[in-house]
Amino acid sequence: MDKLKEDFLQQAIRVNHAGEYGAICIYSGQKFVLKNKPIINEIIKMEQQEKKHLDYFNHKIREHKVRPTVLLPVWYVLGTSLGIATAIMGGKAAMACTAAIEEVIGEHYKEQISQLDDGELKENISKFCDEELEHKEIAIEHEAENALGYHILSSIIKTGCKTAIYLSKLI
Ligand SMILES: [Fe+2]
Ligand SMILES: [Fe+2]
Repeated sequence: MDKLKEDFLQQAIRVNHAGEYGAICIYSGQKFVLKNKPIINEIIKMEQQEKKHLDYFNHKIREHKVRPTVLLPVWYVLGTSLGIATAIMGGKAAMACTAAIEEVIGEHYKEQISQLDDGELKENISKFCDEELEHKEIAIEHEAENALGYHILSSIIKTGCKTAIYLSKLI
């Protein structure tokens, strides 16, 4: 494989690994706060899928000897805090957080799919991308858009998520 392609592959695996890790941190923060609410079942289902996504990228990290991002501890703190904070604002705000994140991740995965030529990796990312977009739909169905201050909350989270993607590719 030529150097440019290898670099792209390494970067793609690093950033996806970081994203799936962050997703689990967010959901675990939300679970902690919303454990007695009916919405918990949806959160658990989505988190279980994220765990499968993370397992896959953990495997890819080893297979391609990718260095994980140095920012994992930062994503742990920020992801968990974001999960807790949105859940404290209520179930709808927690869903607004999911809708915003999954929209950005969906776009990120679609862009990657168009650039990758590794069949197996591409296939798995396509499957994950569909699941992320399903999470977004679940969030919308559970009234994400009715959260107080939805537009501002959503735009702050999207900007944060895009910044996290940018940084996780770099370092
Ligand atoms: Fe995921
Ligand atoms: Fe997701």
